[in-house]
Amino acid sequence: MKALAFDVYGTLIDTTGVTTTLHGMVGDQAMAFSTLWRAKQLEYTWRYGLMGVYRNFRICTKQALDFSCEQLGCDLSDAEKKALMQKYLELPVFDDVLDGLERLKSANVAMYAFSNGVPDDLTQLLTHAQIIDFMDGIVSVDVNKTFKPNPLVYQQFVEVAGTAPRKSWLVSSNGFDVCGAVAAGMRAVWLQRSAAVCFDHWEFEPDKVVTTFDEMTDLFV
Ligand code: LAC
Repeated sequence: MKALAFDVYGTLIDTTGVTTTLHGMVGDQAMAFSTLWRAKQLEYTWRYGLMGVYRNFRICTKQALDFSCEQLGCDLSDAEKKALMQKYLELPVFDDVLDGLERLKSANVAMYAFSNGVPDDLTQLLTHAQIIDFMDGIVSVDVNKTFKPNPLVYQQFVEVAGTAPRKSWLVSSNGFDVCGAVAAGMRAVWLQRSAAVCFDHWEFEPDKVVTTFDEMTDLFV
């Protein structure tokens, strides 16, 4: 029996979905803003993780938003920031995901959402995206009060799924997540969502590399 651990932000859910809302607030800087916001959000998870100080993903996201505003000289009001944080709970699902999840469900593959996000946010996000019912569970790093790629979070996934590490597959577009899973003994598919993104030259490599969700699905049905 295999279990799939789907990374959420960037893999199932498109974090650049905030760009349209941002466009109305910061105009042409919307794409640069979205990219900086996401990069800073992840940087904060890694820094807090190394510091041994836990500030959950929602806090990292808000702090990264405040940083991005100042860095890019965008004077957003509290109401605008609130709207952006709300938008983060309503981000769109990538176009190719629904078909793949349907095929995997028909093949009785065990599927989990596995994410840095806090459980409440993940529930809202996946409900809004109408994919929550495909999941056998939601595994959030919040239980361990640390973030990916701490090995604890991958061990937690394996425990919750009740599968052997070598039968527990991470599916993620985030290279750092793939390295973390492989280093912790899981197997991993790297979903290269953009040809412009390359993989780290580390000794931890994905077992499989795919460029579409459909191609990933073919590996498991
Ligand atoms: C997540 C981040 C890594 O969903 O995107 O865990």
